[in-house]
Amino acid sequence: MNTETINWNQIHDLAKEAMKKAYAPYSKFPVGVAALVSDGRLISGCNVENASYGLGLCAECSLVSALVTSGGGRLVAIVCVDGAGNFLAPCGRCRQLLFEHGGNDALLMTPDGPQTMAAMLPWAFGPDDLL
Ligand code: THU
Repeated sequence: MNTETINWNQIHDLAKEAMKKAYAPYSKFPVGVAALVSDGRLISGCNVENASYGLGLCAECSLVSALVTSGGGRLVAIVCVDGAGNFLAPCGRCRQLLFEHGGNDALLMTPDGPQTMAAMLPWAFGPDDLL
């Protein structure tokens, strides 16, 4: 896929829409995430918390589930947002989740522009290490 032609505004808008669906009554910190998949599909996710606080699911967990259940493929371009719609840096665990399904070349939007997963999660442990 030609990454020059990524419609970042469209992915950002979808992330903001997903954020509005977040279930975050405990932290009151809604998160939305959206991604362009290698076959052109757009997918999204939001955080889903739990009364047993430690069981809450990050938005990226929801995104990865949507990726797999809607047919798989590779994550190409990802936008994660906070409740104000601003770009949010995924937590460490979620960078690992995104890396699994996008690898080093997946792009993640930041306030400094798109960054590679290789930059966001350097020296990542991943599927290749198990070979
Ligand atoms: N959260 C995410 O959904 N993704 C992240 O990358 C960072 C944190 C959620 C978890 C929790 O529901 C809320 O944000 C506050 O930490």
